[in-house]
Amino acid sequence: LNDKETFDFIDEIYKNDKDVLFFLIPHVKSVADLAVKIAQKQNADVDFVYRASLLHDIAIFMTNAPKIHCKGDAPYIQHGVLGKKLLEEHGLFREAIVAQTHVGVGISANHVIKNNLPLPPIDMIPSTLEEEIISYADLFFSKTPQTLTTPKTIEQVVRDIKRYGDDSYEIFEKWHKRFGTY
Ligand SMILES: [Fe+2]
Repeated sequence: LNDKETFDFIDEIYKNDKDVLFFLIPHVKSVADLAVKIAQKQNADVDFVYRASLLHDIAIFMTNAPKIHCKGDAPYIQHGVLGKKLLEEHGLFREAIVAQTHVGVGISANHVIKNNLPLPPIDMIPSTLEEEIISYADLFFSKTPQTLTTPKTIEQVVRDIKRYGDDSYEIFEKWHKRFGTY
């Protein structure tokens, strides 16, 4: 998909969901802008990072998140695995991995089991440079008006990731050392 096709694809999926797009588009554009800046400095695959950033939250409409007008049945935490499935159905296999691994700093099988999360008990952890960059960039932007396009402070990010597991802070620190100066 080129840039236009990527936006057309999002529009196609969200044609009846203008209220969700109102949150989704500014969020994914903010993530894409930051991720692309990092990707350029890191010699990562910039085109892919841009496209996968735009698509990483594609499945939020299937979840139950009334604040951002998502009226689906699935728990919000499933938007990653649902996104993987949806993107795979459209042949977007590499982007699908980003969707699955981008929640928090990644979610381990161990964390799923320990916390009885409604997720498959498998490791869903970013492993390629591109996956790591997008996950890192995503941590700075929420889907609430305050941090939709204005990045969170480092303190806010750190506070918010703690819920994804005990070692989440160390993973963030590691990423922040590599990506955080841009
Ligand atoms: Fe996101």
